[in-house]
Amino acid sequence: MLASKSLRLGAQAIKGLTRVSHFPKSVCPTTLTRRNPYVQDGELFSTTATGTADVENEEKQKISVTFVDKDGEETQIKVPVGMSMLEAAHENDIELEGACEGSLACSTCHVIVMDVEQYNKLEEPTDEENDMLDLAFGLTETSRLGCQVIAKPELDGLRLALPAATRNFAVDGFKPKPH
Ligand code: FES
Repeated sequence: MLASKSLRLGAQAIKGLTRVSHFPKSVCPTTLTRRNPYVQDGELFSTTATGTADVENEEKQKISVTFVDKDGEETQIKVPVGMSMLEAAHENDIELEGACEGSLACSTCHVIVMDVEQYNKLEEPTDEENDMLDLAFGLTETSRLGCQVIAKPELDGLRLALPAATRNFAVDGFKPKPH
């Protein structure tokens, strides 16, 4: 009696195995889910991980910059590496004029780098930039033109003060003296 029951159970088990063997190779018999043909056995495939890596990469390509307006109000923004501070300010509704749109023909994009160490990490200003800076209102030792300050990873944490006023000679009637 016991022996025949064991035999029956054995027969059922063999039948079950036979049924499993009918699944095509690309189907996992234990979970009945289709295996990804592009992923090698043992490799984990996750779109979430790739997505996270992409976001992290993008974040790495941006630096944090704080603009401090004339009232001391701070606005922190993320600036993509390679973008000028003028463009970044405009994209984030920060009041930095930029009358000549970055063609070094005004000084309305004047910004003051608040940290000397950060200032020293900037590229040297060109003669053209220095000429325009000479015309800027409230010039300081760490003044630069926002359109000439380009975001790079070393500048992460940059703090820029916006001067209380700008001088736009096109509007104010100021005429630069020829050199
Ligand atoms: Fe005119 Fe920067 S926008 S010099």
